[in-house]
Amino acid sequence: MAEIVIVPDDQVAGELAAEAILRRLIDQPEPVLGLATGSTPTSTYHAMVRRAAGQDWLKNLKAFALDEYVGLPDGHPESYAEVLRREFIEPMGLVPEQVMLPPGGLDGLSTAAAQYEAAIADSGGIDVQILGIGTDGHIGFNEPGSSLGSRTRVKTLAESTRRDNARFFSSLDEVPVHCITQGLGTVLDSRHLILLAFGAHKADAIAAAVEGPVSASLPASVVQLHPHVTVLVDEPAATKFNHGDYYRFAYANKFEWQHL
Ligand code: GLP
Repeated sequence: MAEIVIVPDDQVAGELAAEAILRRLIDQPEPVLGLATGSTPTSTYHAMVRRAAGQDWLKNLKAFALDEYVGLPDGHPESYAEVLRREFIEPMGLVPEQVMLPPGGLDGLSTAAAQYEAAIADSGGIDVQILGIGTDGHIGFNEPGSSLGSRTRVKTLAESTRRDNARFFSSLDEVPVHCITQGLGTVLDSRHLILLAFGAHKADAIAAAVEGPVSASLPASVVQLHPHVTVLVDEPAATKFNHGDYYRFAYANKFEWQHL
């Protein structure tokens, strides 16, 4: 069951996402948030910080990241551990121990994935998972060809993803070849998914994800199997929908009790 909301820009999307996330987490005795990286969640994190940084209930929050590069040295500024520290953990007033990432060190990788799955399960499961989408339709780092039931594991990055992400590094050669990522099955276990897509370069991928066939060739299409997905799309990313007019009409005419 997806609700697809077309908004003017990523700032509006960030406010709506933050509101939905905080509403979902704030009354939980042990709230668990799923974090994404990349540029897409930035406006959501800013809005969350503006609305909730330092609040008392955050002391009980646990968070799990979707993915991490494998093989970057500890403290590398583009490791997802560092990105999340800069963009979310510190601005929100959390302590690093509250946020877990799949470990990207080269030692113990074979057991790390299973331990990460166990840690998510022990937390009681993720209440709300933030997701971006790659231009090739990946979520987390689940590249095309990922099994729809996959769990956390080491993957090889697609060449197109390495090229897309090269903008964060000084050259393409510096972009790692491997990553560790929650699987599509892991993502499906989260109780609420919030999928964000901004910019014309995401239009094909997000249209295929929500309207195309569910297929390992377009990993984000797995969200169609989830009972509660909110898809927030800006105007440039919304141009390839077959049913864009319907999404606008449905959102404008939603029932009072229907909310993100
Ligand atoms: C990255 C991340 C994804 C992210 C996607 C889009 O490779 N692993 O979690 O959603 O690619 O990135 P961006 O938000 O920068 O467009």
